[in-house]
Parts: sequence; structure tokens; C-alpha cells
Amino acid sequence: MSQFWSQRVHELDPYVPGEQPKDSQYIKLNTNENPYPPSKKALQAIHNASDERLRLYSDPNSEALNTAIANYYGVQNNQVFVGNGSDEVLAHTFVALLKQDQPLLYPDISYSFYPVYSRLFGIKTKTIPLNEQLEINIKDYQCDNGGIIFPNPNAPTGIALALEDIQILLENNTESVVVVDEAYIDFGAETAISLVDQYPNLLVIQTFSKSRSLAGLRVGFAIGQAELIEALERIKNSFNSYPLGRADIVGAAAAIEDKTHFDYCCGQIIQTRQYVSEQLRLLGFDVLDSKANFVFAKPSKIAAKTLYLRLKECGILVRYFAYPRIDNYLRITIGTDDEMQTFLQTLQKILS
Ligand SMILES: Cc1ncc(COP(=O)(O)O)c(C=O)c1O
Repeated sequence: MSQFWSQRVHELDPYVPGEQPKDSQYIKLNTNENPYPPSKKALQAIHNASDERLRLYSDPNSEALNTAIANYYGVQNNQVFVGNGSDEVLAHTFVALLKQDQPLLYPDISYSFYPVYSRLFGIKTKTIPLNEQLEINIKDYQCDNGGIIFPNPNAPTGIALALEDIQILLENNTESVVVVDEAYIDFGAETAISLVDQYPNLLVIQTFSKSRSLAGLRVGFAIGQAELIEALERIKNSFNSYPLGRADIVGAAAAIEDKTHFDYCCGQIIQTRQYVSEQLRLLGFDVLDSKANFVFAKPSKIAAKTLYLRLKECGILVRYFAYPRIDNYLRITIGTDDEMQTFLQTLQKILS
């Protein structure tokens, strides 16, 4: 605390990211990173971009990446916005589209950056409780609002909404923007990008951090109708004209073009997730039906917090949230098969 802090700084309640230990002695199953390496083509493109041209600013419009994303999803270039991680894209979205007179709606159990951005930008909010099964019930969103945002699949539950439900939500909510945060969409749920041309108030946000193994590059994007994208561009150009570096732009473009690698990694993670879910159930866990690269599971024989600490002592990091309704769950990122075998064997020992 300091006398030099602005009032706004005093009022903030910043996001706390999952631990990123400096040594590599841990099996890291706590921040939903992809256990598989990025596409070799992406790494080569990043390498090739690291030359004397770094003295020049990068392309402020990230044209090459914008085009690669537009081609991949079959949309126009002016329907794509890219940013420094989807967190930055989300931040611009909050200011550009979700700061309204009516409150912004989001689930009570959801991505914990939403309340942080709301507070930072002075946005009124109303949280909508998940149902008893920790699912989003779209009927609960039929009230006056200045916007709606939720992850699909939701985090940290991993539970996905069907595309038909998102369409019903959009039919019933035409006067404010609906943001679908699809950070984990590629692990088994259906993207809402196909609805973008039909609904002028739909914005879909995705990231290269999860399914494309590029969390360290920091690239995210949004797809929506051109007017929504223009709003994001206006905020971006009032904040930082060059959110992506040269290597980020070409690396992410090469990654999205390498569909073979992407399909392989996502397929592996989905398969391992099914196996781990079954094994956890055999060990007495209540495991939610995840369509993400993590599972959310409640142990029956031990408190979640105790188990989190015991796993940490054994060199395995998972995520524990001391929040109401979910303080008895652990969020476990899906790692490689070897990592998950070690995790399951360690669990067995702790629980025996
Ligand atoms: C639901 C959700 N949205 C967005 C993000 C941000 O991802 P990034 O900024 O790495 O693109 C995360 C990160 O964990 C997330 O869980």
C-alpha cells in the first residue's frame, strides 16, 4: 500500500493465477496448459521471425494471423480480432461491449477473471447461480441485462452447453451482447462461430493457449460481426497498437494451419480425459462430465484441500479453489499418459 496509489488501485481485487513454479520438479496439472509441444511448423515460423527485423514494429493489424484465422473458420477478415492472449481480448470486450447501464450477467461459478475485469472497469454485474448439478441453465438468463458472458465449456466445471441452448439464449436475448468464451472448445464441445452471421450480438472468443499448446506466446482472438469487431479495434487502438509481436503473429498463423498436429493433440487429451475420469470414479470421486482439457472432481474420502496439499508434497500440482460451493472439488488438468499414471498411482497411495 502506498500514498501514491490511485483510488482505483486501492479498490482492486486482482486475479491470482495458478502457481508457476520456477523449478521443474512438479508435474503441473494446475493451469490447464497443454502437455504436448506446439506444432513444429509454429516453432519453425517463430524461429524464422527472430532476426534483424525485430528492430521494426510488428504489423499493428496482425494481417497474416487474421487471415489464417478467417480462412480456418470460413469468416471474413473484418470478423476477426486478435489480441495478446484471450485475457486481453476479454478485457477489451468488457470495455467495448459489456460496460452498460444494466448489469452484466455471468455464472456464480465461472472464470475468475470476469469479476476482476468488472471491478477494474467499473461494470455493474449480477451473478447467476449454476444449478445443483453445477450446470448453466439458460432460462436463468432471461432478465434485463447489459450483456451476458460465460465460458463454454464452463471453467472450472468443464461442463459444456449444447449449441442449440446457445441459440435459444440468443433468440431470447437480442438487446445486449452475448460473449461465449471458448477457451476450451476444441476438447469436445461445439463452437458457436457458426451462429455469428445470424446473430449480430454474438461474440465468440478463443485462445491459442490450450488446444494449440501456445500459452507462452500469448495469442487470443474474437470472432463476431464486423461492427462488434470494430468496437474492439477502437479500444485496442486506444490502448496498445501492437499487441502481438512478429513471432507471435507468424507462430500462431502456422499453428492454426497445422491441423494434423492439432487434431492429434486434442484427440490424445480427450482419450486421456475419459480414462482419468473413469479411474477417478473408481477411486470414489464424483467427476463432472468434462468437455475441457481438465476434470473437476470431488473426493469422497478426504477433504479436497487436504488432498491438494498432499499431492503437492508428492510433487503434483492441481488447482484448489477456496470458493463457496466448489471448495470440495479439485480441478485437474489432463497431462500426458505418463503424468496421469503417476498422478493416479500417487492418489491411490494417499487414499489407501
Ligand atoms: C475460461 C478462460 N477464458 C480465458 C482464459 C485466458 O486464456 P489466455 O489469456 O491464455 O488466452 C482462460 C485461461 O485459463 C480461461 O480459463
